[in-house]
Amino acid sequence: MAATTTTTTTTTTTPAAKTIILITGANSGVGFALASRLLAKGTYHVLVGSRSVTKGTAALTTLLQQSPSHEHAGGTAELLHLDGHYT
Ligand SMILES: NC(=O)c1ccc[n+]([C@@H]2O[C@H](COP(=O)([O-])OP(=O)(O)OC[C@H]3O[C@@H](n4cnc5c(N)ncnc54)[C@H](OP(=O)(O)O)[C@@H]3O)[C@@H](O)[C@H]2O)c1
Repeated sequence: MAATTTTTTTTTTTPAAKTIILITGANSGVGFALASRLLAKGTYHVLVGSRSVTKGTAALTTLLQQSPSHEHAGGTAELLHLDGHYT
């Protein structure tokens, strides 16, 4: 009796998981520059940390506008309001 071999191949494509990174003080200076660089890489979800919602919103808008290539690369970002009150 001849042996019968059955092979089944299933290919599942899933999007690569992004590394989530929080940058405190991301609305200006070094923090903003880092956020811009990481967003452009496309492998990060950047939490744009800011004590000021107004400044943070402006920074996020600028980041998303100045890096049009991030959309193709897959980079994402969102504002994270940092409460500066300490006890
Ligand atoms: N820029 C350079 O080329 C450079 C070079 C060498 C070293 N450094 C050093 O790197 C550090 C960052 O410099 P930077 O140029 O990025 O400007 P920065 O004005 O020191 O930092 C800007 C960011 O930090 C936040 N921030 C400032 N003081 C804070 C505090 N007490 N608590 C929480 N967040 C605070 C700001 O938030 P708000 O907008 O809410 O104030 C803003 O988001 C400084 O210590 C600087 O001396 C900078």
